[in-house]
Amino acid sequence: MITTTTRKRIAGQAKAFLGEAYFELGKSEEEAKRRIDEVLQQIELTGCYTHTYEELKHGTKMAWRNNNRCIGRLFWQSLEVFDARDVLDELDAANRIFQHMSYATNSGRIRPAITIFPANHSNNRIRIWNHQLVRYAGYRRDEGIVGDSASLAFTEVCENLGWKGEGTRFDVLPLVIHKGGEAPHWYPLPRETVLEVALTHPENNEFEQLKLQWYSVPFISDMELEIGGIAYAAAPFNGWYMGTEIGARNLADSDRYNQLPNVAKLFQLDMTTNTSLWKDRALTELNIAVLHSFKKHGVSIVDHHTAAEQFLRFEKQEQDQGRSVTGRWSWLIPPLSPATTGIWHRSYDDAERTPAYRYQSAPY
Ligand code: ARG
Repeated sequence: MITTTTRKRIAGQAKAFLGEAYFELGKSEEEAKRRIDEVLQQIELTGCYTHTYEELKHGTKMAWRNNNRCIGRLFWQSLEVFDARDVLDELDAANRIFQHMSYATNSGRIRPAITIFPANHSNNRIRIWNHQLVRYAGYRRDEGIVGDSASLAFTEVCENLGWKGEGTRFDVLPLVIHKGGEAPHWYPLPRETVLEVALTHPENNEFEQLKLQWYSVPFISDMELEIGGIAYAAAPFNGWYMGTEIGARNLADSDRYNQLPNVAKLFQLDMTTNTSLWKDRALTELNIAVLHSFKKHGVSIVDHHTAAEQFLRFEKQEQDQGRSVTGRWSWLIPPLSPATTGIWHRSYDDAERTPAYRYQSAPY
């Protein structure tokens, strides 16, 4: 049952979105008005409405442009939008996801993309349980955690569904999806959908002995996309990595892969005192290795200085379009040498605009 309040809310959001989107798309006021009337009627009759492909496509791009935490927004217009609102079951959905992954990975020349599954009001709605489509498992063992501690709970979910990993530090987790009220299904990721990079260092040949690696493409798969009052719980999207996400967080955080002590030993840094800045030096070497290795294997990646410059260009570009940029400073600054970037010295309004990508509670 859809209440009058919900109907009113959706109508208001639809009107605001369509007005803005049609203006940005250069459409006439008459055309916008015609479409708004049509949509309002649809909402009156059914409680919801269906986006045209053009609306969907522009709405997802606006949501990227509006994401306050993202430093990579200069490229918002280049997003490839796959419309998967017609999928009927999980297997079909899994295949669409694998197609997206191959398209985006593109042998290393990464292409930003998003796949949109049926809206939440549809009987065919699905939910992806993974936080990211490619992610390493984490296991609690007597000797401590093996793998990615960020995946402990989800790894257990996969094991309870019948999946079993090899038990290495870098086991790729399976895809888990469920449709409507049905039980979840899991699918191993096909080999060709996952490209990984083994880490080496441009000057230190012993670095490879650390046997570190990371996957090429971050595909966020657990956020909800809202466009004009219509919510899509399954809308996995990807960009390419900024080096520090891997080198200054995933592999460096003491509650993730905790590699700074190992890197420091390899470089024979003085770990007996903080004042040697061994952590800072190890962090820099690790980040050099990440950027070097991705480049060596022809996999797209951006360093944090370039990304910050691109963000300032995005700000300028938006200003030229008569739009102001919102942002969350604490997320926009990179975790390595933040004060060397222009972003550090600016301040941002963290107001949330729509269309938007939002967190949603985990289905498990
Ligand atoms: N920080 C996340 C990770 O390290 C990925 C978030 C999205 N990043 C991106 N470059 N689009 O896996």
